[in-house]
Amino acid sequence: MASTLLEAAEVRVRVPGKINLALKSGPRQPDGYHRLATVFQAVSIFDEVEADWAGPGKFSVAVFGGQAHQVPAGEDNIAVRAAMLLARIHGAGRDLGVELTIRKQIPVAGGMAGGSADAAAALLACSVLWDLDLSPEELLDLGAQLGADVPFCLMGGTALGTGRGDQVVPVLSRGSYHWVLAFSEAELSTPKVFAEFDTMPPPEGPLQVPRELLNALVGGDVMALGRALVNDLQPAAISLRPELADLLGVGAERGAVAGLISGSGPTVAFLTDSEAAAVELSLQIGQTGLCREVQAVVGPVPGARLLA
Ligand code: C5P
Repeated sequence: MASTLLEAAEVRVRVPGKINLALKSGPRQPDGYHRLATVFQAVSIFDEVEADWAGPGKFSVAVFGGQAHQVPAGEDNIAVRAAMLLARIHGAGRDLGVELTIRKQIPVAGGMAGGSADAAAALLACSVLWDLDLSPEELLDLGAQLGADVPFCLMGGTALGTGRGDQVVPVLSRGSYHWVLAFSEAELSTPKVFAEFDTMPPPEGPLQVPRELLNALVGGDVMALGRALVNDLQPAAISLRPELADLLGVGAERGAVAGLISGSGPTVAFLTDSEAAAVELSLQIGQTGLCREVQAVVGPVPGARLLA
């Protein structure tokens, strides 16, 4: 047992899922990734990751939640990879090990960065458990090595992402936005959606986030935000899952300000103009039977944070 009285007995971290308010993609680069210009927003659906001391060199994970069986439970789990990377880069010469417990609510392979969120939470939880004293920049750098969305999951709020989506800076955003998330029965693999995107005519216009979207966020203008939402991956996701077009149509008919597929999908996010409208729309969409589950959420919320 590596724990001493000075070390934390256990550390718990809560981490949100994300939606992309804008996702502009360039063509595939030689490294296999696409250059992106994206605006992330963290929303109030959370995974929780607990880190407990384990014997030297022991890294394990247990996953709980409705979709737990779809999450790898060994060293291929991205949260375990995060812990191992942290131990290798910043824990040299120390007998580190960790037992991770993940309580999942963010949909698996849903376009909401669920895996990246768990990696971000594991980085933060283990750095505190092991008393590694890392700077936020060091955590962001480790995050980028694990996955393109991990730095944003550490940061949270509303942020502009460039490069692979891993270079993140906060953007000004006023007020809160009320969203309805519709979770699909089926998963969509991000690499497959990008591969489908590569077969389609490239999007027109420059690789940049619409100025109207940034202005809408600064002004807290829900209607203008609705008009500016954009996702270059949406046609590819609909091509692979045509039923997503029906879901988007239902939201439009039932009064959503706007709707779009989150990231690579298949989660669909509908913008509404109040909390009451979000609750009402979530009930209506739930009744259609077009999705596995519906949840009203709010954004922005902070990124990975320690729980007392
Ligand atoms: O970085 P991450 O492992 O989350 O990315 C998953 C996959 O998504 C990559 O392997 C790649 O196929 C695709 N991707 C991409 N361009 C990006 C981000 C992700 O092609 N900017």
